[in-house]
Amino acid sequence: MSVNLRRAKKSDLKEILEIEKESFKEPWSMEGFLYELNLPEEIGISYVAEVDEKVAGYIFLHIFDEGIHIVNIAVRKDMRRQGIGTLLLKKAEEIAKNKHIPLLVLEVRENNLPAISLYKKHGFFVLRKIEGYYSDGENALLMVKEVKRT
Ligand SMILES: CC(C)(COP(=O)(O)OP(=O)(O)OC[C@H]1O[C@@H](n2cnc3c(N)ncnc32)[C@H](O)[C@@H]1OP(=O)(O)O)[C@@H](O)C(=O)NCCC(=O)NCCS
Repeated sequence: MSVNLRRAKKSDLKEILEIEKESFKEPWSMEGFLYELNLPEEIGISYVAEVDEKVAGYIFLHIFDEGIHIVNIAVRKDMRRQGIGTLLLKKAEEIAKNKHIPLLVLEVRENNLPAISLYKKHGFFVLRKIEGYYSDGENALLMVKEVKRT
């Protein structure tokens, strides 16, 4: 399978929203994604993973001096467990390295075992639990990874 990573654009939003809806209890809206795509690139960067010219997954990042915050990542349901999530995470890490940003940071639902497994496999650890972080009352885990300079 050949996966092409490229910057997300407005014409991807239809496919992104399909994936978003099948992936999350509280999916982001079209307006939410448009807001992200309109951020200046020093503040917000997003990538899609394309397979056969179809959007198979995406990652949305917020850039700070001290860390890159992964604000959204998802892979199309029927394309999971094929390494696409890993490629998207590695892209975030590559951007952090290039910008000399020392940390990757994210929140994940405490019961989201697939995502927590992915992050742990790639060197993230749980910094702390945030009680009642989500609107349905579920706790979040705040996970971080130190980006090593090579
Ligand atoms: C989390 C998510 C992005 C992972 O994407 P993916 O493309 O399936 O991930 P990968 O194929 O790169 O998986 C890499 C590793 O993560 C772990 N992993 C991924 N899915 C898993 C699952 N369902 N159960 C257990 N471990 C899992 C495994 O260690 C896996 O390696 P392996 O397949 O060699 O065992 C995907 O499950 C998803 O879109 N979930 C819904 C949206 C979501 O929860 N996003 C995270 C919000 S914080």
